[in-house]
Amino acid sequence: MMDLHTFCRGCPMCEVHVHFEGTLEDNQAELIASRNDIKLTRPRILDMRPGFQYSSLQDFLDPYYEACSVLLYENDFRDVAYEFLKKQSAGNVRHTDMFFDPQAHISRTNPRTGRKITFGTVIRGIRKGIKDANRDFGVTCNLVMCILRHLTEKDALECFAQAVPYLKWITALGLDSGERGNPPRKFKRVFALARACGLPVRAHAGEEGPAAYIWQTLKVLKGTIIDHGVACVDDEALMVYLRDNQIPLTMCSLSSLRLRVINTLAQYPVGRLLLFGLLVTLNSDDPAYFGGYLKDVLIATAEAQNLTIHDIYKLARNSWLASYCTDAQKSAGIADLDDFYKLALTPALTAVA
Ligand code: ADE
Ligand code: ZN
Repeated sequence: MMDLHTFCRGCPMCEVHVHFEGTLEDNQAELIASRNDIKLTRPRILDMRPGFQYSSLQDFLDPYYEACSVLLYENDFRDVAYEFLKKQSAGNVRHTDMFFDPQAHISRTNPRTGRKITFGTVIRGIRKGIKDANRDFGVTCNLVMCILRHLTEKDALECFAQAVPYLKWITALGLDSGERGNPPRKFKRVFALARACGLPVRAHAGEEGPAAYIWQTLKVLKGTIIDHGVACVDDEALMVYLRDNQIPLTMCSLSSLRLRVINTLAQYPVGRLLLFGLLVTLNSDDPAYFGGYLKDVLIATAEAQNLTIHDIYKLARNSWLASYCTDAQKSAGIADLDDFYKLALTPALTAVA
């Protein structure tokens, strides 16, 4: 039988919770900053020390949005998306549903031109990166536009209006940023608008906030996916609801560790929720900040929780089911995963090893 590491590294899967802005590595930020003649105020290298933890979600978000200041031109956005998807391909992550935060960019002015960065610059650049990566590596990627919940409803509606000409490139609407004090219901109207435009919706909920925010995402926003959802463990009825309706939970263990939602990886409830029958997935969230890409997250979590190859297989299968892939893409992805799983269980593999 194949060992757990080899299985995690090799299994074909997809990722359904990762932020475009969270894939910006230090070295790439420096490269783009230097070609754009921008001074980075705070090298992130400090945050990358082993064992480093932020004190809260907001403590992480401040430098995170600041790092975005290097991205000015379509090509900058293109390069970040392309380099990330190249890494996904190297890890056999064949499809990604990727968030992006337009409000972190369209609020900024390009210091070289004095003009605001436009929604079109952001999305055309990211799209180009996705197209080039598909051509060069065969990977696919859907875009999920997120509303920044620490801003106002008016800001969200204005951002959505700017997105309207590009809706054909946007697969879904999400909600992210500082959760505490910013309940999903604050954005009821913009989410209703998105649904009226045919977009499925979802929200970060129960990451730092309470289980009530997960209920609001389901019942008020009419979300079909919960991002994080850790707090569901505080509400038995909610756990049963999520299980019975097979609502995907896109969980991010290394992220929750770095953001002090949990103290140790062993405490993270992914194994427990999997056993309870929820459709849970594992994801990297912001890989350049939280110490690992998807397969690193999988291995670290599997080790801390004593997960088996079968558990990893289920998580990988769930990732295909939770994605916005077409039915044909899902069937092909799961068929490849099934083949890999069968190979992994072959006793001959142990003999060869
Ligand atoms: N934006 C990027 N990462 C995030 C997270 N973990 N929670 C909320 N918003 C985010
Ligand atoms: Zn996230």
